[in-house]
Amino acid sequence: MDFMNVDTLHPMLVQVSAGWRKTRRVAHHSLHPVSIKEYRPQIIKSTRAFLKRLLNDPDPFNIIPHIRHLAGETILSIDYGLQIQEENDPYLEMSLVGLQTFADAAVPGAFLVDSFPLLKDVPAWLPGASFKRKASAIVYETLRWRDVAPTGVPHLLSTEDEYEGYRLRAGASSFQTLGRAMLHDETMYPDPFTFNPDRFINPDTGQVDFMRARDPSHACWGYGRRICPGRHMAFSSIWLAIASLISMFNSEKVKEKVRVVGEDVIGWEEERTVELTHEYVSGLAVMPKPFKCVIKPRSKEKAGLICEPLIQDHD
Ligand code: HEM
Repeated sequence: MDFMNVDTLHPMLVQVSAGWRKTRRVAHHSLHPVSIKEYRPQIIKSTRAFLKRLLNDPDPFNIIPHIRHLAGETILSIDYGLQIQEENDPYLEMSLVGLQTFADAAVPGAFLVDSFPLLKDVPAWLPGASFKRKASAIVYETLRWRDVAPTGVPHLLSTEDEYEGYRLRAGASSFQTLGRAMLHDETMYPDPFTFNPDRFINPDTGQVDFMRARDPSHACWGYGRRICPGRHMAFSSIWLAIASLISMFNSEKVKEKVRVVGEDVIGWEEERTVELTHEYVSGLAVMPKPFKCVIKPRSKEKAGLICEPLIQDHD
């Protein structure tokens, strides 16, 4: 298989044509909410492997590589049927290098579960319904809060057009930043740059309520005929990863000892909390810069559950 061959270019990079329509039909069919039920075992397998990696290597500087491995393993195993090795997998490495040029990582029930069949049958290691609703609110907020590709993929106008008196020439590039700005519209999402999953939860019912804050799907996957065909699979895998992560692990800010020197030149040691910086590496796809935090399993029992044989998930 040649990931770099122009004949196998990502549909995102291909102009609307008979070939693009064919690829798009296949993608739509194989990534449809009903079709993705078949991928459940693979999504669970890569999520379990991710939890194990985090358990064995909780070094905060390796969290992002762990997440990249999870996204890569899920996509490659489903798209290409590959069994991805735990370490130094050649296909995973090749795909990460290939994707680097245009996007470093590709990484929402009756409301939730009806739209995402995969969620009707969640793994046994996850707790009850109210927890799952909270996990859902976190996923919605994650998709709203920060944009994976803030400039979006530029679109090329195939024919001349006009908008409110402006002539748009055929061949011009258009960027869809406005749609993404909608995810930060403070009339819809007050205090938009604060990560607040509760904005989606109705305090009276405890359920996700899009009357309180609009479903970010109206903008985060793009629009029209180029809308992301992988959105159902992406949502289901992100949901499972986040739900598993918060049910199995505690995360805390790091505390560091710092040497403080007073006016009388007498020094002493103080413990300070290291705040998260929310700094990003810019590019077509943005990635958080490495950050410090402590990630620990919630209990010995939960750590044991992560290590249990996968066969239990299919029971
Ligand atoms: C958090 C995860 C993801 C986000 C936020 C996302 C978002 C997007 C966006 C904004 C576009 C561009 C739409 C446009 O040009 O108007 C796109 C295109 C695309 N996405 Fe995703 N995506 C994600 C995951 C995935 C996954 C997992 C797959 C495949 C399994 C996938 C496959 C595609 C394809 C094939 C296109 C190109 C569609 C076309 O141009 O016809 N995406 N995605």
